[in-house]
Amino acid sequence: MSAEGGPRRLLVRELAQLATPAGSDAPLRGAALGRVDALENAFILCEGGVIAAVGRMRDLHPIDGEVVELDGRGLCAVPGLVDCHTHACFAGDRVEEFALRAGGATYEELHARGGGIMSTVRATRSAGAAELAEAVRRHREWMLRAGTTTFEGKSGYGLDRETELASLRAVREAGGVPTWLGAHAVPPEFGDPDAYLDFALREVLPEAAKLAEAADVFVERGAFNPTQARRYLEACRAAGLALRLHGDQFTELGAVELAIELGARSVDHLEATGDRGVRLLAESSVAAVLLPASALFLGRSMPPGRALVDAGATVALATDFNPGSAFCESLPLVCSLAATQLKLSPEEALSACTVNAAHVVGRAGSIGRLAPGYAADLVLFEAPDWRYLAYHLGGALVARTVVAGGLAELV
Ligand code: NIG
Ligand code: FE
Repeated sequence: MSAEGGPRRLLVRELAQLATPAGSDAPLRGAALGRVDALENAFILCEGGVIAAVGRMRDLHPIDGEVVELDGRGLCAVPGLVDCHTHACFAGDRVEEFALRAGGATYEELHARGGGIMSTVRATRSAGAAELAEAVRRHREWMLRAGTTTFEGKSGYGLDRETELASLRAVREAGGVPTWLGAHAVPPEFGDPDAYLDFALREVLPEAAKLAEAADVFVERGAFNPTQARRYLEACRAAGLALRLHGDQFTELGAVELAIELGARSVDHLEATGDRGVRLLAESSVAAVLLPASALFLGRSMPPGRALVDAGATVALATDFNPGSAFCESLPLVCSLAATQLKLSPEEALSACTVNAAHVVGRAGSIGRLAPGYAADLVLFEAPDWRYLAYHLGGALVARTVVAGGLAELV
């Protein structure tokens, strides 16, 4: 609150450029994904954590009363980025595995030998709730510095009751959107996936459903097959959770069809998705969440981003931030990969990690645009043209990340 008791106001003035997905629809598909409004010499006025006005400096009316001003000269502004797929709650690292993979070992081999995801499960189980909370806070700070103002965070490295629930609490406490990835892998104390799911649905789901907003499952050889995934997801849906799937990362096992049949929010990865999957997704309301940093990190083929957009699917972009397959918290880097590898335009990439990602986390209409009424979450970066967001590969672009109009944090 300001001295007069009104809401605190922040004016970002004289921005070199401001860019925001056009219109007010969400999610955006087809040609609409690439429509971005870009204004030169622009301002953003925020009031009480919400955007009150955006426009060109020449249209800025005099403002009465107290207002904090931020000089935007030399800076571009885009909406606070939305990372709709991260595994931000983990302990330890996988740097040894990274080095082994550099020497030729594959991700699937390491997973099959009890490394990979299971090695992070061991570290996460032994961390304890306080350490996990601290880890998520640390990861959130990394994301904020890269321009992410809203992140989804999955559990999935606990796979026991206590650690799964502690993970969801840690994500919530850090301000993230929690997803229960209770079906990420089968922990060694269970003989088979069905026995593990019996436990997870009976012992963990009732509490997880109170903490999480969505449920997620890894549909893959060595993880869960579509029949097991269906059982897990149907139970989660009945408990009120939105549904997400890790699908077609290495093999097309039917995750796309299952996602559509169950009315899932999204199916994520899709590196192995063929023409049929692209067509099915385009005809459905399930969002395709593409994770090109994961494909890059594992040296795999990229998902069919251009084909999905052209066919009219809802496409979102995310980092997949995790210690094994994508140790990368940078959505600007993901935008660079979207442009160079997936052949999305910078405009399409921006919409995919703002408006469409907001849709995936159930927040369309309140975040993801620089427009009146949206949360005043802003990313300001040094550049003469907002497309540097994708153009500057690996650039340390973010000058400031403003959350809720400067009420919550300034980086
Ligand atoms: O999205 N594929 C499954 N899960 C994560 C990776 C988890 C890990 O390797 O620790 C992913 O890539
Ligand atoms: Fe993932």
